[in-house]
Amino acid sequence: MIAVTMDPLVGTAIRKVTRLGHPVLRAKGRELSAKEIKRPEIQRLIQEMAVTMVEYEGVGIAANQVGQGLSLFLMGLEKGSPRHPKGIPLTVVFNPKVRYAGEPSELDWEGCLSVPGLRGRVPRYGRLELSGLDHRGRAFKRAYEAFPARVVQHETDHLNGMVYLDRMPDLRTLGFLEG
Ligand code: NI
Repeated sequence: MIAVTMDPLVGTAIRKVTRLGHPVLRAKGRELSAKEIKRPEIQRLIQEMAVTMVEYEGVGIAANQVGQGLSLFLMGLEKGSPRHPKGIPLTVVFNPKVRYAGEPSELDWEGCLSVPGLRGRVPRYGRLELSGLDHRGRAFKRAYEAFPARVVQHETDHLNGMVYLDRMPDLRTLGFLEG
């Protein structure tokens, strides 16, 4: 599941990030077979999404955020980040399926590369189990909690055509990161 390191990615193209208002962000991503995942153009897309996520300091990125209507997201965060000191290993997920436990009662701040500059408070489930296919098309299943579980929910929402704003119970918490 931990797919790629940053080292071979030098020279990989940074993709343009689609912004809210682009119809691809409101469309459901198409699932891929293990055979499709192994194709060079999909492997290249994974690498381009990884460098794009790092370039824009995102914690996750969904394929429709780079204009591709596919069921694929990446997440990753360096250890020591103030956002989550434990970090998140770079993870590639195709065709994600999520099983939630409990209630979506954890309220915390989120932002999105497709809604630049803004932050708002979003309720999410604290624990979940994610299954899907990895960067080589192999099935995996893994439990997440707290911040990484929040990232999984944010990114799987993207693949269902949703953004975090749709989940906000109180839009009055929406604001710009920089005053
Ligand atoms: Ni987002």
